[in-house]
Amino acid sequence: MIDIAPRESASSWLSLIETTPSLVFDSDVCRGQWSALRNALPGVELYYAVKSNPYSGLLQTIFEANGHFDVASAAEIRMLEQLGVSPSRMIHTHPIKTELEIEKAVAFGVTTFVVDNVDELWKLIPYRHFIRVMLRLSFIAPDAPIDLSKKFGAPPPDALSLLAVANDSGIRVDGLCFHVGSQAASANTHADALSFCIGLSRQVQLEELTPIVRIDIGGGFPAHYLGEPVDLETFCAPIRNVLSEVPKGIEIMAEPGRVISAPSMALVCRVVGRAKRSDGWWFYLDDGVYGAQSGRLFDGMQYRMTVYTSAKERSPCVFAGPTCDSIDELGRFPELPILNMNDVVVFHEMGAYTLASATQFNGISPPQVVTRVLPCLLPGVGQSL
Ligand SMILES: Cc1ncc(COP(=O)(O)O)c(C=O)c1O
Repeated sequence: MIDIAPRESASSWLSLIETTPSLVFDSDVCRGQWSALRNALPGVELYYAVKSNPYSGLLQTIFEANGHFDVASAAEIRMLEQLGVSPSRMIHTHPIKTELEIEKAVAFGVTTFVVDNVDELWKLIPYRHFIRVMLRLSFIAPDAPIDLSKKFGAPPPDALSLLAVANDSGIRVDGLCFHVGSQAASANTHADALSFCIGLSRQVQLEELTPIVRIDIGGGFPAHYLGEPVDLETFCAPIRNVLSEVPKGIEIMAEPGRVISAPSMALVCRVVGRAKRSDGWWFYLDDGVYGAQSGRLFDGMQYRMTVYTSAKERSPCVFAGPTCDSIDELGRFPELPILNMNDVVVFHEMGAYTLASATQFNGISPPQVVTRVLPCLLPGVGQSL
């Protein structure tokens, strides 16, 4: 969806930043998403997935909301430690880690790790007296566009035999976890996978293996991009139904990333070049897929945009990023105003997997980040295409 708004109303964005491109982080939006998910999942301990956006202001906001953190590397642990977060509030969920990574994470004081195969389990043997482990299982949500269960996760039918091996190894594997895929359209797979894990915990008890005391339902909670707004209370209803069946003594955890970070940031760009070519007008922005918009390529994402211009004449047009690479294209539109130099384009819901994967390609720096209150587009200010 594209909103067109008068060029002069771009001042509500430009007054917030020093330069373009900039990402504007709003801590109130972040806090609002955190508490909406907490309310939708009563009794579930949330671990924010740092990988989705490691901006220090965002981490601080989660910390102040008494949150926990899901980390994937020593560098992420260090960032949190610098904010004063205790390692006891972190879990290390990367299913495949180098031995050095494990050594560093243990040295920091992290005690929860994840494995999905026996070779990874062997790496943890030296630390078996200080750590606990969750076994990651593979459940794929057919309605999640970003799959995370081909690369990671043991097949559920193998779970019991893996847990038996773990039991003999002396490592305390007392948790189960999964990630059904990012930006899921429904929580049906979360709910089915949680049910499976509850059943598995009963079998574990019958086999007299180390009891399962934690089940981590991962991420995958959706952010609102182009479609209907997401109501987290409604989205999480299938999970809540199963939560009522969780036996006493099993703690439920989740690792939300995108749902917290995406709506918390908007990206403010400027038109820095334009050219009329055979396929229409090309507008070159100062951020592209090598900057904060890699999600277009990696995840097939499209973002809500507001274009601030006084131009009236329309044409087919192409938006592109600032690098020399032809893959750095942001969208083709059959009819949009012919933008002027320095017109402003704002992309909304730009906090997830944007800054986190931005590069320095062509020597072009990623967007600056500022913490401000996000302006609202007043009703009637613009026109939607
Ligand atoms: C292990 C793990 N946990 C949590 C997340 C966050 O997922 P999402 O952003 O879909 O909530 C990811 C995303 O890659 C992940 O790999």
